[in-house]
Amino acid sequence: YSLKLYNTFGVDAKADYFVEANNFTDLKKALVFRRQRDLPILFIGGGSNMLFVNDFKGLALKLNLKGIEIVKEDDNYVWLKAQGSENWHQFIQYTLQQNYGGLENLSLIPGNVGTAPIQNIGAYGVEAKDTITEVQVLSLETGDEHIFTNEECKFGYRDSIFKNECKGQFVLVAVTFKLTKHSHVLKTSYGAIQKELEVQGVTHPTIQDVANAVIHIRESKLPDPAQIGNSGSFFKNPVISKEAFDHVITQHPNIVHYPAENGVKIAAGWLIEQAGWKGKRFGDAGVHDKQALVLVNHGNATGKEIYELSENIIQDIHNKFNITLEREVNMIK
Ligand code: EPU
Repeated sequence: YSLKLYNTFGVDAKADYFVEANNFTDLKKALVFRRQRDLPILFIGGGSNMLFVNDFKGLALKLNLKGIEIVKEDDNYVWLKAQGSENWHQFIQYTLQQNYGGLENLSLIPGNVGTAPIQNIGAYGVEAKDTITEVQVLSLETGDEHIFTNEECKFGYRDSIFKNECKGQFVLVAVTFKLTKHSHVLKTSYGAIQKELEVQGVTHPTIQDVANAVIHIRESKLPDPAQIGNSGSFFKNPVISKEAFDHVITQHPNIVHYPAENGVKIAAGWLIEQAGWKGKRFGDAGVHDKQALVLVNHGNATGKEIYELSENIIQDIHNKFNITLEREVNMIK
């Protein structure tokens, strides 16, 4: 069964089994089927954070769980629960229409609500963890429902318990967000947002203005997966020790960096551009010409070709800067 339509890289990988689940009953049935045959399982949400390096020898399960509901409300906040298969950007559009604040900076990130907590998606000074209160999951082993509170999710930079201790144990079925109803707290300190609001002549921005600025910035730099296959940032921005940084800055005084909790965060896009990879193309696998952190499929690249390109970049950055890049995107091997 071809998975080409179900991954934003547009890689034509195959799965041995494929099933769509439109509700909990379907989902639980599929989990039983998979247990009986002892198959590896892969959940496909928006397919926006995975690279099929090989075909998938198991059951690929496309989730189709939809719905948005208010679970609680007070004078200032609303707790909004969205089912996992709601498209992330459309969900944010809905919150903006209701004038609920908190997610506007995360506009236009590809993928679905249910995958947002796994890697704690983030952009322009905001992360999903800032508004998530609860994540509802089903156990793959038992099919039982379970709730993780924000704290229990152990969120970090592009990281959570679902990538670590709990990897492969649960499927995320719904997420609850705590959003503001009127006293919105705007996050506009990110340079590109300020510039964009200035250009637009906006002096008292609303959450919609911030969303519009973000949408404009993303559209100018990041390729639209509907036109050119990609998975957003392919690598994480590496955090290196203060000592390592003191050394690298003597050789590369212009290196783009930010303070981080446990060292110094380096702009991986800068490293990759400096190393000469930006806009490069090898067959149909390439590095985006406007943002070097994004790898792209110009048409018929295989997952292996994109993977090999990423290996070569990692190796080269290691040789040139002695910094090891880590992938942000999941490799399905
Ligand atoms: N830069 C370059 N060349 C490039 C790209 C970046 O020199 O080709 C340098 C520039 O100095 C630029 C700086 O890196 O000012 C930062 O670039 P950008 O603002 O594009 O952000 P990023 O650090 O490359 C991160 C996230 C993005 C998110 C943006 C904005 C990661 C791995 N990526 O990218 O997230 O949209 O910040 O907040 O943290 C994603 O995760 O898929 C994603 C797109």
